[in-house]
Amino acid sequence: MKDSLSLGASREAALEHAAALVAHAWRDFDSPRESETEISELLINELRKPLPEQGSDVIESLDAAGDVLDASLAQSRPRYLAYIGSSGLEIGALADLLAHSYDINLALDARAATRLEAQTIGWLADFLGFPARLGSFTSGGTISNITALAAARERALPGSRTTGLSDTRPAIYCSAEAHYSITRAAELLGFGRNAVRDIPIDEQRRMQPEALRAAIALDLANGVTPVAVIATAGTTLTGSVDPIAALADICESFGIWLHVDGAYGLPAASAPLTAPLFAGLSRADSVSVDAHKWMFVPKACSAVLVRDARTLARTFAHDEAYIPHEDDELNAVDITLEYSRPLRAMKLWLALRVHGAQAFRAAIADNCEQAQHLYRSAKAHPRFEVLASPPQLSIVPFRHVLPGCTDLDAHNLDVCARMQRDGRVYISPATIDGQVWLRPCFTNFRTTMADVDITLKIADELGCIGPHDHPPTK
Ligand SMILES: Cc1ncc(COP(=O)(O)O)c(C=O)c1O
Repeated sequence: MKDSLSLGASREAALEHAAALVAHAWRDFDSPRESETEISELLINELRKPLPEQGSDVIESLDAAGDVLDASLAQSRPRYLAYIGSSGLEIGALADLLAHSYDINLALDARAATRLEAQTIGWLADFLGFPARLGSFTSGGTISNITALAAARERALPGSRTTGLSDTRPAIYCSAEAHYSITRAAELLGFGRNAVRDIPIDEQRRMQPEALRAAIALDLANGVTPVAVIATAGTTLTGSVDPIAALADICESFGIWLHVDGAYGLPAASAPLTAPLFAGLSRADSVSVDAHKWMFVPKACSAVLVRDARTLARTFAHDEAYIPHEDDELNAVDITLEYSRPLRAMKLWLALRVHGAQAFRAAIADNCEQAQHLYRSAKAHPRFEVLASPPQLSIVPFRHVLPGCTDLDAHNLDVCARMQRDGRVYISPATIDGQVWLRPCFTNFRTTMADVDITLKIADELGCIGPHDHPPTK
């Protein structure tokens, strides 16, 4: 390609080649692989090359991209169980290619794409059982949470976007195990991290409503302004769902904004067996949900849904000379943090259109069943221990208990590192109540029960090989 940004005559061949690479990847994801691809010397050298002044052959360059992807950790693989993964849903990947090719900007009215985003927000609201069909797509749960809490700030402290917070003492309330994006929101929105009240959790690791009520009453007595309560609907650590209805009662009695952070867990509100955990959701002022987690589409595809879009407009709208406001119609940019915004909704829209909501509910239920199966199997195994209560959603912390081992924390860190090197299953560790646990999370529609069984088998196999003579903890 000579000094041009068009693929020219190679265009169709490039598309065909890219399609072949994608088809190869999809076939590869159909079943787990027995080891991860090493990063070859050749690839290391490729990734050290300086800025190319001249272009290279597109087919050869696409192959180089394919090599990089093949030697990377792909969350699409059925045994990627670390952190909270995703699945790279096929139709979602195709949607991204299509949407990115048109490169529509969802800042101002983009005609049909604007309607598609609104329709998808409506579908998502119906899927989750949240009655307000308003909101927008964002780049992630972190941004969705910040967006919602910015709106809560403006409601609790009207005009604060203009005057700042200097004369106020705001506070927000969440479970001690809320995601740290809530703390980041407090930092960014000017509350300060000390304004985050970590409310104690019960034995099922859910926020204790009475402790919340007491914390709010104490703050009010001290002249502090409660801005929002954040219920976590699926904690990142163990998948616990806070008692939303009880928290809604408290929020209603004090007139406080209730935000539900369902970035990970909220899609389970759609599945009959787990739906009761989310009772009270319809009473929230706002919710966050990441379709790029448990609705399987590729990143980034989060959404923030609100009961009243005007609260977002009051927080974010500006009257800029070049932004048209006909008939008081809100532009997307009036209710979001971003200006340039891709058509993230298209992957969820196409996914729901192609597969139907029922297929999503079934896949979510399967992941929950996999978690229950792992919990039961680990509990029954002589060399594993599990938490006292079964998983509420699809995260199942377990520990390998090697007879005679005096430092189970170091041992489990070792087991986890060995599993990551081994490559058959990818898992991450987590610290729960000061102890190290292995913490698989099932959010991939490709994962099977056989993958669950082999996860325990490999953890035991790699847990039982030495050396494990760690010094006793002091
Ligand atoms: C409960 C919860 N909230 C928020 C987030 C942040 O989401 P994102 O990574 O999409 O910004 C996560 C991420 O795991 C999460 O588990």
